[in-house]
Amino acid sequence: MEDPRGDEQRHQPPPSLWPVGFAVGIVCLLVGLIVSWPAAAVGAAIAVVFGFLWARDVVAAGRGPALPGPGEPEAAPTAPAIPAHKGEAAMPEPEPAERFPRSVFLEMSTLGLGGIIGGIVTVPAIGFAVLPAFLKQHSPEIDLGPITDFPEGQYVVATFLRNPSEGEISRRTAYIRNNGMRSGTPSFTCISNRCAHLGCPVQPGGPVFDSKKQTVKTKNGEVDLIPALPAAGFICPCHGGAYDQEGNRTAGPPVRALDRYQFLIRDGHLVLLGTYSVSSVSGSGAQAKIHRYQLTGPGQHIDAPESWLYPVQPPH
Ligand code: FES
Repeated sequence: MEDPRGDEQRHQPPPSLWPVGFAVGIVCLLVGLIVSWPAAAVGAAIAVVFGFLWARDVVAAGRGPALPGPGEPEAAPTAPAIPAHKGEAAMPEPEPAERFPRSVFLEMSTLGLGGIIGGIVTVPAIGFAVLPAFLKQHSPEIDLGPITDFPEGQYVVATFLRNPSEGEISRRTAYIRNNGMRSGTPSFTCISNRCAHLGCPVQPGGPVFDSKKQTVKTKNGEVDLIPALPAAGFICPCHGGAYDQEGNRTAGPPVRALDRYQFLIRDGHLVLLGTYSVSSVSGSGAQAKIHRYQLTGPGQHIDAPESWLYPVQPPH
């Protein structure tokens, strides 16, 4: 008589922890996409391993021998076993369709279709939301004028439009010091005024000579240059962060040194490029050894295990 339970019960896979591991991997992967690439890679690896084990169990259960139902004892033999070479075949050869039960086919089809539909819905949305932040990002060049306007050994407060087409919203300030020549090329210290704690504008810890302000016309429009004497370094008015003249943190809540600008000398002009982050600076002036990192946001550690906890950032 035909078993009324059909394939559904006979081929149910045993309880397994693989789906739980797979779900944990997916969660790690999604969180990692926000937090850091290494975490995303670990999540992907976990999902792949547990997904493989899960799929293997499902397939094996579908191909394995029939299992007794819950609480059902193993059937006891009622007659002595007939030698294999005698008598008729115990059961007909299984049809190919019977070796891969309908329930397994439906389960895997549902999972596959769900994955495809989920990908079609989410990948374009995530792509449009995230990719533009990573593509076609570049730092504009900022011409600060002739290097002769920067007296050697003295800080100058330079105020300029980072991108004139964006107007005043792109106005920035940098502290520039001409360090003289190093190995035959001019050396400059170009410090960003963005505090490494929460981003407030830091101020020179000393007099600023507004009466000696000069305005230089460059390709980037007008650049204001004001001599300053930051004898006490740089000070942040927001929470008391303090830095020395090289931008090293000396007190307060900032977690690293002040960011710096890359620069080049073109046709005798000082040209600022993109900014980068600095953990600390050893030495000073032209001899300074700068421990540099990719630009990161205010408040972020960049040279300790804590730095792994911060989200992936697009270039900016
Ligand atoms: S923002 Fe500068 S110390 Fe807090």
